Amino acid sequence: MSNTTLVPAQPNAIDPESKRDAMKPRHLIESQQLTVPLLMELFKRSRGMERVVARGGTLDYQNRILATLFYQPSTRTRFCFEAAMQRLGGKVLSTEHAGAFSSEVEAEQVEDSIRIIGSYSDVIVVRHPEAGGAKRAAQVSLVPVINAGDGEGGQHPTQALLDLYTIYRERPLVGLSVAIIGELDKGRTARSLAYLLAKFERVKIFFVSPPELQMKPDILDYLNEHGVQYELEADIDRVIREVDVVYQTRIRPERVRDRQELQHYAINSSVLKKMKSDALILHPLPRTVELDKTVDDDPRALYFKQAANGLFVRMALLTMLLD
Ligand code: CP
Repeated sequence: MSNTTLVPAQPNAIDPESKRDAMKPRHLIESQQLTVPLLMELFKRSRGMERVVARGGTLDYQNRILATLFYQPSTRTRFCFEAAMQRLGGKVLSTEHAGAFSSEVEAEQVEDSIRIIGSYSDVIVVRHPEAGGAKRAAQVSLVPVINAGDGEGGQHPTQALLDLYTIYRERPLVGLSVAIIGELDKGRTARSLAYLLAKFERVKIFFVSPPELQMKPDILDYLNEHGVQYELEADIDRVIREVDVVYQTRIRPERVRDRQELQHYAINSSVLKKMKSDALILHPLPRTVELDKTVDDDPRALYFKQAANGLFVRMALLTMLLD
């Protein structure tokens, strides 16, 4: 199994995919940290959180403080983490745009910000413009750090967790056939999800992307090392009839050489007709042109439910890191 190193200096840091499976991570920076037993424990807690939210929340974490430090815009992830902490009874410290509204505008480094914020809070959620930014934060942090997206081509592991939870709530994860579509070279959600899917037996992944925007070799190498089946495709039409899950992600039109090409990667009413009747359509959102609004009313479209599931998964994760 992979020997990916993660925040090794921390006393509780997870030793990924080792015999310490049962141990919880101190930080969550990359999907590779999460073993199947940890995922199942997290999903069990997430189911419990669905019940907690249904009764309005809990006060169990009323003495705990979450800090959100986002250097890039976010609607879903920041609101979701802040709502998660509040539903747990905790409190939130936040800055809307950390790069502009913190001392980093005066060139303070993320490491110094994290050291300071960690002395005011119990857990920090970071979105950073550089791949590796969250890992840098974790290496100096006194409290758990959660990566809420780092750079272009980094990771977004909690998005992948809620993606996987949404699939898990619908069907078994073993033997799934999944199309991951979009500008995959920079897609941090797609990258994190690929690592998670790779943990389950007989999963097959189709990466569907313009060739120049295909998944990077680091993920493909990981899949090869772990014996995970995958194919690289350049047309949604070639896979859409056979997949159980369509994981659509953003394609910025300016990144495609020929705008006509976009039709090979977009989901619309004509693509819907070709999909399995029980397929699942996911998208981390926000969307651009790759997911037509006419898809929203199709019962297979789960992306709003997927975003809602983020609350349960992030509540579960916070409890796992704080307990
Ligand atoms: N899916 C996601 O990360 O959305 P935000 O950028 O709105 O947080």
